[in-house]
Amino acid sequence: MKDKVLRLLRESESYVSGQSICEQLNVSRTAVWKVVNGLRADGYEIDSVSNRGYKLVSAPEVMSKAEIVSRLETEWLGRNFYYFDEIDSTNEFIKHLPEEETVNGAVCVGDQQTAGKGRLGRTWISPKGSSIYMSYLVTNDVLSPRKAPMITLVAALATADAIKTLTGLEVGIKWPNDIVVNGKKVCGILTEMSGDMDNVKKIVIGIGVNVNMKEFEPDIADKATSLRIELGHKLKRTDLIILMLKSFEKYYQEFISCGDLSSLSSEYNSILVNRDKEVRIIEHDNEWSAVAQCINDTGELIVVDDEGKEHLIISGEVSVRGINGYV
Ligand code: BTN
Repeated sequence: MKDKVLRLLRESESYVSGQSICEQLNVSRTAVWKVVNGLRADGYEIDSVSNRGYKLVSAPEVMSKAEIVSRLETEWLGRNFYYFDEIDSTNEFIKHLPEEETVNGAVCVGDQQTAGKGRLGRTWISPKGSSIYMSYLVTNDVLSPRKAPMITLVAALATADAIKTLTGLEVGIKWPNDIVVNGKKVCGILTEMSGDMDNVKKIVIGIGVNVNMKEFEPDIADKATSLRIELGHKLKRTDLIILMLKSFEKYYQEFISCGDLSSLSSEYNSILVNRDKEVRIIEHDNEWSAVAQCINDTGELIVVDDEGKEHLIISGEVSVRGINGYV
């Protein structure tokens, strides 16, 4: 209810009468009054003038369900929305949604994760109040096991686009799905699938963006950064969340209508930081060097080894590193 009242207040440049809110939301005047007071308690400044109604003057710099949902600009992504001040992992939450809530486009955001998960079994450190921890659920369309891994590249492209739009920073992608600014990682994506070999039932795309962190632990400080560190000022996380959701919806529709990455690969390759660079390919029992070229239309990384032979690297249990460090 808070998000619905907020949306109505946001949509209007001037005062919205209590009567019109009651009619649009089909609730009593008292209910509207209570919601407005609740929003004021959350830090929203709402002016009220008799005979004119309510006007939103300012919003607090907090992240909340009402703040995000009232600003959504998407059609289906985030229309089922879950928000937690604290959660073990937003990916785990989405994975364990009950059957009736397993809806395409469900989104979960946490202000803090107590058991955030990274790729390759790593931990994703997820302190409170400073970053974005968000997971999307995709359940429909043509999710064959062959196509599903491409979604993670779609998510990287969409997130890079949102970060660039908000910050103006030069944003790159380290294949397959790390987002990089000035050679350091600002965002990681963990995509998990369930189903069987023939039929992917659901895909959970978990995205962690380092937004307002001021520093990192010494062991990752040389390869991790935050948007705040790069920009020199804080950002409102909700601004980025709104753009990320809008952007993913757009890129995902494009991907689904093409069936592969053919219409997105040139954009992806234009910001691929590994391009023409020597990389180490780290497999479970093997490690070798090659020069990365670009991705193909199904998202594999094309590399050329020392003997000039071309190989296709498939994302998954492989790690690709720069020869002298992270990129
Ligand atoms: C990586 O290792 O680069 C992937 C990091 C993914 C972190 C995000 S934060 C939101 C979602 N929930 C998790 O537990 N992990 C992902």
